[in-house]
Amino acid sequence: MIKDILIVDDEVSMAKAMGEALKRMKYDIDIVHSAAEALELFEKNIYKVVVSDVRMEKMSGKELLKKIKKLSPKTSVILVTAYGTVQDAVEVMKEGASDYILKPFSAEQLQNTVRRYFPSDFSLQKFREIIFKSKSMEKVLKLAEKAAMVNAPVLIQGESGTGKEMLARYIHKNSSRKDKPYIAVNCAAIPENLLESELFGYEKGAFTGATSSKPGKFELADGGTIVLDEIGELHSSLQSKLLRVLQEGEVDRLGGVKTIPVDVRLISITNKDLNELVSEGKFREDLFFRINVIPIEIPPLRERPEDIEYLTTYFLNVYREENGKKELKISAKTLKLLKEYSWPGNVRELQNIIQRAVIFAGGKEINPEDLFLDKNRKKIKLSDELVRLDEMERRMIIMALKKTLGNRKKAAEILGISERTLRNKVKEYELNIEEILRS
Ligand SMILES: Nc1ncnc2c1ncn2[C@@H]1O[C@H](COP(=O)(O)OP(=O)(O)OP(=O)(O)O)[C@@H](O)[C@H]1O
Ligand SMILES: [Mg+2]
Repeated sequence: MIKDILIVDDEVSMAKAMGEALKRMKYDIDIVHSAAEALELFEKNIYKVVVSDVRMEKMSGKELLKKIKKLSPKTSVILVTAYGTVQDAVEVMKEGASDYILKPFSAEQLQNTVRRYFPSDFSLQKFREIIFKSKSMEKVLKLAEKAAMVNAPVLIQGESGTGKEMLARYIHKNSSRKDKPYIAVNCAAIPENLLESELFGYEKGAFTGATSSKPGKFELADGGTIVLDEIGELHSSLQSKLLRVLQEGEVDRLGGVKTIPVDVRLISITNKDLNELVSEGKFREDLFFRINVIPIEIPPLRERPEDIEYLTTYFLNVYREENGKKELKISAKTLKLLKEYSWPGNVRELQNIIQRAVIFAGGKEINPEDLFLDKNRKKIKLSDELVRLDEMERRMIIMALKKTLGNRKKAAEILGISERTLRNKVKEYELNIEEILRS
């Protein structure tokens, strides 16, 4: 079963209070009083969010966090800590916690924090606007608007955190289907055996446990838009089923006898290079052509640095308001750092960093220390010798390829460009990887 929230706290009254605060928001909640019980539930269910106390007998919240991240990487874990120092909080974030709450906290604080992890009711209201200044994003938006006017399938590609889901919503909201359902499914977050019934529905008795029939997401999205996020993760048997649904415009529920016609606009999202998956035989080529009628690629943030300042100002406004620090400014030095940083996590990372900085900034200004940026990623050291830029680029590429023993994926990561860009540059500079490795 896919569930909303699991609360873990060995203090029974605390767990109960949290449960009540969240139930008021209509979330589907389970409560347990130890990490061991939490892990047991993870064998049956998937939770979108776990709220866990850090200090617990036997297994601590931090240990639980690690285990959950292994079992279910997509689950957002929010840790509750009483003795929190800034350092502590930053540490748990580094270990993969999505957020933390310092005790004592109000029901409202808890609700606000949790709400962020349910995009349909949070991002939508609060982060509705797509902020940009760059020409490249302007192009993306124009293309999205055109796509909104037709019913053809759209494929949105881009690195993690670039705003793909946001763009999918934007397309829906600008289309004639805007008052009809918008249904998003994350193909990577749901195990294969559940995903099929999730997408296509089932009839009573289709499998043990199917005590009643249930419509799938395609049926629920009828008349509107269905978004298949992380479509690159779709298992091959489901790829074939999806292809059929798209070709026929109808679905078969599991265990069903009649087909059900559906009218949906499909938006697929991926942060993988689908072309590559096709050439590796991991993604059906015919399905790729079907879903890729209108391709839209969102460039990574480092390739559109003009957007950084705008986004920073925007997020600063949002979080200043939220934290009651309306006067807080950002120092020039801090802004400069932000502009130079390579943003491997793109806009999402920028948003998180600003949020954290607003919370931790003690004075009137946000200073570089408040950012906790990973300094190693900042900039490459250049030698004193001056050469043409393209020559510099060529040398950097060679260095990266050598360092990674020719692994293009890793080399691209080091260089902060997409694999595709690297491939093009290798071609452009006529580099021979084998020769490079031999030299
Ligand atoms: N141009 C933008 N303006 C304002 N907010 C943005 C912009 N781009 C992204 N964001 C914010 O960044 C966060 C990440 O965006 P989103 O979830 O759409 O990214 P994504 O590409 O789907 O990421 P992932 O691949 O990790 O799922 C969201 O909180 C979103 O509101
Ligand atoms: Mg996404």
